Amino acid sequence: MSTTGRTSSAGQDEVRKGLAGVVADTTAISRVDPATNSLLYRGYPVQELAARCSPEEVAFLLWHGELPDAAQLEAFLGRERAARALPRQVTDVLDAAPAAAHPMDLVRTTVSVLGLHDPQAADSSPQAELAKAERLFAALPGVVAHLQRRRHGLEPVPPREDLGYAENFLHAALGAVPGPEAVDAFRVSLVLYAEHSFNASTFTARVVTSTLADLHSAVTAAVGALGGPLHGGANEAVWQLFEEIGPGEGAAQRAEAWLEEAFAAHRKVMGFGHRVYRDGDSRVPTMRAALERLARSLGRTDVLELYAALEEGVARRKGLKPNLDFPAGPAYALTGLDTPLFTPVFAAARLPGWTAHVVEQRADNALVRPLSAYSGPPERHLPG
Ligand code: COA
Repeated sequence: MSTTGRTSSAGQDEVRKGLAGVVADTTAISRVDPATNSLLYRGYPVQELAARCSPEEVAFLLWHGELPDAAQLEAFLGRERAARALPRQVTDVLDAAPAAAHPMDLVRTTVSVLGLHDPQAADSSPQAELAKAERLFAALPGVVAHLQRRRHGLEPVPPREDLGYAENFLHAALGAVPGPEAVDAFRVSLVLYAEHSFNASTFTARVVTSTLADLHSAVTAAVGALGGPLHGGANEAVWQLFEEIGPGEGAAQRAEAWLEEAFAAHRKVMGFGHRVYRDGDSRVPTMRAALERLARSLGRTDVLELYAALEEGVARRKGLKPNLDFPAGPAYALTGLDTPLFTPVFAAARLPGWTAHVVEQRADNALVRPLSAYSGPPERHLPG
């Protein structure tokens, strides 16, 4: 049953399951408009930003409301590059974790540990919040890269100050900067993932901030929310599906059979559907085009064929369209990242959005505390 607009009444109260359709607050950070299928960051269409901007410029835009001028950008790049190296206390935690731990759990733990060692952890002034956000932005690629390399028994690669954010991220994870199509697809994904209004993880960050808790607590909680398969975890599930069906000869028939069984069993196909967009996710065409350029450059058109077969099969059966995770997962796989690292990459990419919302929430705060309609037993009393 659809939860969208799902309401019921308990006594006088109308219950909106999942807060579907509820406008919980205002935001000046981004605008998702399902009617025009558009997404604006601080007024700019995300497609224009993905075509022309770096992740650093987009992060600055989300935090400050305007794109940086040349001097602002130079100063920010200097700070970001200087803050990339992970403190020993963090790498020790990563290395001591059980080998089977999911990287997303380690990203969550690491954000918390970084908070323990941040000199401004308890300072919630806007200046301190932005400084902490910048430091997290600079550090998270190193965390994700460390985890990718640890999975293969490889030593961490030190950050390179001559490389931009996206190139350095991939260099640290893979030990080399991949081809231009892979770098571009990665950069595009970072821009498209950076912000999306009151999605579950961002709303989580705002709820935590609304109690006047600190920024690292808000981001730690947001990472936890993002990891769920109905949210960011979907990009990993998408590639698992591609692997399960197997691209290559006969993939279209295998996809049909797989979908037939999944829909008969009322299973969800990860990477499809969206709570807000009803006619397709505004970010997909841009990411899909970047995936196509990457796949063609590697001679992997088999991945595009399986993509098309699944897209067509789901649309025919249920009228659902892909969301951003559907092209992003295969793009990360073709770049050489291990599947369990996909959602951690999403977390690093979403960090600017989360922290911009933390600052906005704190600037005009109201404790988030909805009501509930009671459905338990009527009042009763202990015997005797
Ligand atoms: N595969 C198959 N069916 C799906 C589906 C999917 N990915 N997404 C939604 N549906 C179906 C539901 O089964 C339901 O069908 P019904 O009305 O016949 O019972 C209907 O579409 C509405 O789905 P519902 O889950 O109630 O809507 P929602 O607004 O709460 O869902 C999502 C939004 C994102 C949670 C949902 O589309 C989903 O689970 N997608 C897969 C996970 C995913 O890709 N997440 C990343 C989101 S960016």
